[in-house]
Amino acid sequence: MLWSKSLANRHIPQFRSYLEKSDYQSIERVFNNRYIAEGPVAGEFKEQLLSVIGSPYGSLAANGTLALYMALKVLNIGPGDEVIVQDTTFIATANAVEMVGAQPIFVDIVSPFDPSIDLTKIKLNKNTKAVMIAHLFGTACTNTDEVKLFCEENNVLLIEDAAQAFGVTNGKQHCGTYGTVGTFSFFADKTITTGEGGLVVTADEEINTRLMYLRNQGRIASGTFVHPEIGFNFRMTDIQCALGVAQLGKLEFIMQKKAELFARYEKRLRGHVEFLTLHQDFNHIPFRVVVFTENAHEVMEKMKADGIESRSVFYPLHKQPCFSKYQCNDANFENANKCYEMGICLPTWIGLTDEEIDYVSNSLISAI
Ligand SMILES: Cc1ncc(COP(=O)(O)O)c(C=O)c1O
Repeated sequence: MLWSKSLANRHIPQFRSYLEKSDYQSIERVFNNRYIAEGPVAGEFKEQLLSVIGSPYGSLAANGTLALYMALKVLNIGPGDEVIVQDTTFIATANAVEMVGAQPIFVDIVSPFDPSIDLTKIKLNKNTKAVMIAHLFGTACTNTDEVKLFCEENNVLLIEDAAQAFGVTNGKQHCGTYGTVGTFSFFADKTITTGEGGLVVTADEEINTRLMYLRNQGRIASGTFVHPEIGFNFRMTDIQCALGVAQLGKLEFIMQKKAELFARYEKRLRGHVEFLTLHQDFNHIPFRVVVFTENAHEVMEKMKADGIESRSVFYPLHKQPCFSKYQCNDANFENANKCYEMGICLPTWIGLTDEEIDYVSNSLISAI
C-alpha cells in the first residue's frame, strides 16, 4: 500500500547492471583493434582478477556454471561419485555436479538466516569426493575455516563456489582460495560483470594446466591443431574481458557504494526484520540485501503492488522438481525451508537513491 501519492507508479527493479561510458569505451578499443575473440585483453583481465583474489593460477571460463563444471572435471569427479552441496544455493552449484555425472548430496544449512552448510549434518561415505560450499550474497560462509578443516580431516576435496563473492576477503585470504579449486561468475548481476563470464582459481599448477587443456579444445594455446587432451571451448571473448577490465577499475567504488546502500537499508530496517548472518571477519559486498520476516512471500506480493521488485531466497535444492529423483526427506531441511519461506532479496544496485531505499524500506515495514 502506498503512503505517498507522489510516489505512485514507481518501478524499482531488483537489479540493474552498473554500466558507464568508460565500460563502453573499453569495449570500443577492442572493436577498433579488430580482435574480438579471446586475445590479449583476456590475458590482462585474468591477471588483474588473480591479483585481486591473490591466487597464483586461474583460468577464465565462459560463465560461472561452466567454471564449476571445469572445477569438478579437473578433480576427476564423475559417475559414481558424490558431492556434498548446501541445500540453499543457486541451482548451478548442484547442476554442475549433474553435468559431470556425479550425484549432489544436499545438506541443510546452519540457520534460516545463515545459508552456510551445517557440518554436523554431513554424512560421508566411500563415494563422497568433495564438499562444495557456496559463499552467498556477498559474504563468506560463516564456517569456512571449519569446513576446510573438516575436509582435510576426512580426506575429501573442498570446492568453493564463490560466484557471488568476488572481492570478499578477510584481508589475508579471499573467498575461493580455501579449497583446492574456487570459482567465480561475472554474470550481469555480479559485483563486476562481463555479461557472461567466469573464472576458476587454484594454487595447484598441475590442476591449472588441466584447466587450460579443458577450456581450449585440449591444447594450451590456440593456433595449433594438435590436441594432446580432450577439451572444449569455454573461452571468453576480448569484448567481454574489455568490459571486465573497465569494471575492475571501479571495484573500490562499487564496494563503497554497496556498503553505503546496505548501511541505509540497515538503518531503516533493523528491528523490523532479521538480516542475513554475515561472517564478521570478512568484508561484505552485498550481492543482494537479504532480510527475513514471517510470510515473506505475502510481503513481497504487497511490495509488488508498490512497484518494488523483490525476490525470494533460493528454493531449496532438495525440493527442486528437477531433483525429485533423489526423493529427499523434507524433514531433514528445516533451516533451508525456513530460509526460503522467510527470505526476501531487496533491490540492490548502484544508482538506487537514498529516497528509493527509504521507499522500499517503508513499503516493507508497512507490508509486514
Ligand atoms: C552461487 C552461484 N553459483 C553459480 C552461478 C552460476 O554462474 P553463471 O550464471 O555465470 O553461470 C551463480 C549465478 O548466479 C551463482 O549465484
